[in-house]
Amino acid sequence: MKTKMFICLMIAATLSFSGCKKQSPEDKSAEPKAKAVSSPAQKKGDIETAGLTITVEPFGRVDDKPVNLYTLTNKNGMRVKITNYGAIVTSIETADKDGKLGDITLGYDSLDGYLEKTPYFGAIVGRYGNRIAKGKFTLDGKEYQLATNDGENHLHGGVKGYDKVVWLAEETKTEDSVGLKLIYVSKDGEEGYPGTLVVSATYSLTNEDELKIAYSAFTDKATVINLTGHSYFNLAGEGDILGHELSLVADNYTPVDETLIPTGEIKAVKGTAMDFTTAKAIGSRIGEVAGGYDHNYVLNSSDGKLALAAQLYELKSGRAMDIYTTEPGIQFYSGNFLDGSITGKGGRVYKKHSGLCLETQHFPDSPNKPKFPSVVLKPGQMYNHLTVHKFYTK
Ligand code: BGC
Repeated sequence: MKTKMFICLMIAATLSFSGCKKQSPEDKSAEPKAKAVSSPAQKKGDIETAGLTITVEPFGRVDDKPVNLYTLTNKNGMRVKITNYGAIVTSIETADKDGKLGDITLGYDSLDGYLEKTPYFGAIVGRYGNRIAKGKFTLDGKEYQLATNDGENHLHGGVKGYDKVVWLAEETKTEDSVGLKLIYVSKDGEEGYPGTLVVSATYSLTNEDELKIAYSAFTDKATVINLTGHSYFNLAGEGDILGHELSLVADNYTPVDETLIPTGEIKAVKGTAMDFTTAKAIGSRIGEVAGGYDHNYVLNSSDGKLALAAQLYELKSGRAMDIYTTEPGIQFYSGNFLDGSITGKGGRVYKKHSGLCLETQHFPDSPNKPKFPSVVLKPGQMYNHLTVHKFYTK
């Protein structure tokens, strides 16, 4: 009980979260009673500011905890839906060049799909996004064994990562954004990780058609951390992503072995099929890359300041997305493992390359690669990561 109170106070103090009591997932009174409407917010819990609204409706229950669906809308009509189960972005609707709104992410229409089978659609993955070889690492002289869930390796936080838990949620607003702050307390020993980690991810939508994700975390024991967002994008809203044009602000990438663990080498992309330093269609040289793109790119900017990392463009819809991040790397995954076995939103069958992920991150297997930027978080330190998605048409 004391520990619970301590964690709550820490969350409230450090992350300025005011919902510890009010919005505990166990608290049934936190469940919205009526379906929210997307017109200006009037219902308790709904917020409106400068043409920006956030509304809330029930989405189901997990582990006997209520799960909600939050809709963030800006003055241009751009709409983002997020659930506090897995911190999942279930849809992002943006206008195409003719002003027609369309959903540009993969996922499910209802919670059941996410509970049954998901390749991390839209979720926040952690404690360690991406792979750790054999699920093992040594920290301060002690070896840790994590859950292995990708052959012999650890992937995206293990068997029950942050994509499969119910987060605490609080609606937020600033002068120019509305948002949703999500908090999860990850226990010492969970999936094999040392230390109780208090994690916060705040999504916010602005009137400039930006979706921002601000992550922070602190721990009571030294641990490793690598949080990222796992949305699958398809700017056309249909078909495959092979015609999308991509550029990455990265002269280098980290080559991998056959189990997708980095070899430790940092290799130049220049002139190869891995080269996205100038925009090119994803499909133009994908045939030269065994299995398709599933690689960490080393961003040219590595000083922790917010910098442009990626630009994606789809000609027919005219939709474009720029990604800015404070992280040193970005995983470009071309949806290679989508194999037609998932039927998602609106009955759409997700086949190979139906969507792509651009995951801002530290490099995979960093806990075992001393030359990669450190992913160690110690007590007294704060983990901070900001990623901004800017949507527009051209
Ligand atoms: C990884 C892929 C993995 C996928 C899971 C991506 O982040 O890079 O290798 O298969 O997540 O859906």
